[in-house]
Amino acid sequence: MSDATRTGTASAGPRVALVTGGSRGIGAAIARRLAADGLTVHLVHRTASGAGEAVAKEIEAAGGRAHAHRADVSDEAQVRALVDRVLDREGALHVLVNNAAVIDDRLLALTSTAQWEGVLRTNLTGPFLTSRAVLPAMLDQGWGRIVNISSNSVRIPGPGQTAYAASKGGLEALTRGLAMEVGRKGIRINTVAPGKVRTEMTDAVADQLGTDGSGTRWGLPEDVSGLVAFLAGDEADYIQGQTFTVDGGRLVMRAARTRT
Ligand SMILES: NC(=O)c1ccc[n+]([C@@H]2O[C@H](COP(=O)([O-])OP(=O)(O)OC[C@H]3O[C@@H](n4cnc5c(N)ncnc54)[C@H](OP(=O)(O)O)[C@@H]3O)[C@@H](O)[C@H]2O)c1
Repeated sequence: MSDATRTGTASAGPRVALVTGGSRGIGAAIARRLAADGLTVHLVHRTASGAGEAVAKEIEAAGGRAHAHRADVSDEAQVRALVDRVLDREGALHVLVNNAAVIDDRLLALTSTAQWEGVLRTNLTGPFLTSRAVLPAMLDQGWGRIVNISSNSVRIPGPGQTAYAASKGGLEALTRGLAMEVGRKGIRINTVAPGKVRTEMTDAVADQLGTDGSGTRWGLPEDVSGLVAFLAGDEADYIQGQTFTVDGGRLVMRAARTRT
């Protein structure tokens, strides 16, 4: 039996996933992959670009089920309304992928309080708000999966990435803390930490390809989505509170280079 039809709940339908930042890049790849695995996917993004709707249409054209929403994950009222909308429509919510994030690189000495708080608000408070909003439904079901998308920047931050790295370090700590709280209730919460992945977020540094000496290629969004799908399924039942790096070996090769 596939993950998508084994609900672990009283409801008999396919599992339901909420993917934040699902309108492009890694989030869109995750949405496509979960839909291909049979889940009903609700993807959310912030701007009125039409990009989320385009991803949802593409998923439906491929035979999947998807709905696009607009909401700002850093806004408590919008997050509550979003989760209520999904629950009203589906009656259940099984998987949350906290993928939406912003990057605002600048040296710490030149970072205003508003800039610092802006990064933490989306990248860390956002996952707090979404996780808190979905937990009652997951606890009622006795089954849930939360996958948080962090970054290699926690371990190897570039100059100007202090706020971003701090937000992602906080997200990894959130993962571990929440895993302690809900582990006995059938909920699994883990983190995936990508390395360099070609998306709009990294367009500005695309010319740095291969310049770090690791010999690794840029990742593709699909390099990340497969692991997220695994962690969102039944086979991840014995995996809890972990962070998995997906970077083509960049981190381990960097460690080896610094020893020589
Ligand atoms: N790309 C990389 O190399 C890389 C490396 C390590 C980790 N990551 C992490 O992977 C995740 C996805 O990265 P990506 O490169 O795919 O990013 P991206 O191309 O910049 O896409 C970001 C997505 O998040 C949405 N978003 C941003 N702020 C939001 C908010 N406040 N509320 C709702 N949606 C919001 C965006 O929607 P709108 O356009 O509508 O704002 C968009 O859908 C992020 O967590 C990022 O930190 C990326």
